[in-house]
Formats: sequence, structure tokens, C-alpha cells
Amino acid sequence: MGVGSDTSVESTLAIIKPDAVARGLSGEILRQIESNGFKIRALKMVHLTVQQAQQFYEVHRERPFFASLCQYMSSGPIVVAILEGERAIERWRALMGATDPAKAAPGTIRRQFGTDIEKNVVHGSDGPETAQREVNFFFSTLDRVG
Ligand code: RTP
Ligand code: MG
Repeated sequence: MGVGSDTSVESTLAIIKPDAVARGLSGEILRQIESNGFKIRALKMVHLTVQQAQQFYEVHRERPFFASLCQYMSSGPIVVAILEGERAIERWRALMGATDPAKAAPGTIRRQFGTDIEKNVVHGSDGPETAQREVNFFFSTLDRVG
């Protein structure tokens, strides 16, 4: 790290999940991301196969909701983005809200738009190592600006 570099600036992966894209919420969610001070450094739409969703959610393989989650995440196009900002990992998860939209705080994206604990609109990386793995899963260095 050079002199004056700010180690609190992080990158994290955001996903707008299939139901949210299908419902036409991508623009509104990206607007809230930008208005909350995140810089979008990469952005694209992809449609995962079930196998790709299983690979992405590898850590949840033993969880009872794994099969359903992977079906859902491959059910239609998603929007994936690299978000950058001060403590971006924690701040993006705060803006998303709790996993279960019914328990998410008022004003959070999941509380505003979430349907149930699975169809909860958005994904965010849960730590620095996960963020790096997830960014690399979707993007090459050439895709990223800034
Ligand atoms: P995410 O990874 O998508 O950002 O969400 P998260 O950290 O808040 O939740 P996590 O425990 O990592 O679960 C990943 C996704 O699996 C679905 N889920 N379904 N049926 C269930 O009980 C259940 N629990 C979780 C959700 O789509 C959740 O975001
Ligand atoms: Mg998670």
C-alpha cells in the first residue's frame, strides 16, 4: 500500500436477483445504490445455468434450501455489479437489509421489494475473501473501470 492509500475503500459484489429483474426493479435498485454513495465499477446482465448457480452458492451446498435457491437464481436473468466505497461490504449489506424481508429494517431494499426469505431481491458479499471470490466469479479485470 502506498502512502495515503485508503484501506477502508472496499469492493463488493451486488446481484439483483431474477424476480427483481423480471419485475422491472433493476433501475430503481441501481438508483438507490448510487444515491447511497456507492460507485458502480462494473455492471452486466447474465442468465446463470443451474450448474453455475450451484458453483456460485457452493458454501450453501449442505443447506436445505440449496436446490431451491439454485433453481431460483437460474430462473431468469440477473444484474451483477461491482460496488466500491468506504466499507462497501458492510454498507451494501446494511442497505440490503436482513435475509428475510419481513424482518428487514424499514427503508432497506429487501424490506421495500422482497417477497419472501428466498425471493429477497438482492445479494451482497459477506466478507473480504468472499467479495474477492464473487467478483472474480463474474468479472475479469478487463470488465472493471476505476
Ligand atoms: P445473500 O447471500 O443472497 O446476499 O443473502 P444472505 O447472506 O442474507 O443469506 P444467506 O444465508 O447467504 O442465503 C443465501 C440466499 O439463500 C436464500 N435463502 N433461502 N428458504 C430459506 O430458509 C432461505 N434462507 C436463505 C436467500 O435467497 C438468501 O439470500
Ligand atoms: Mg450470503
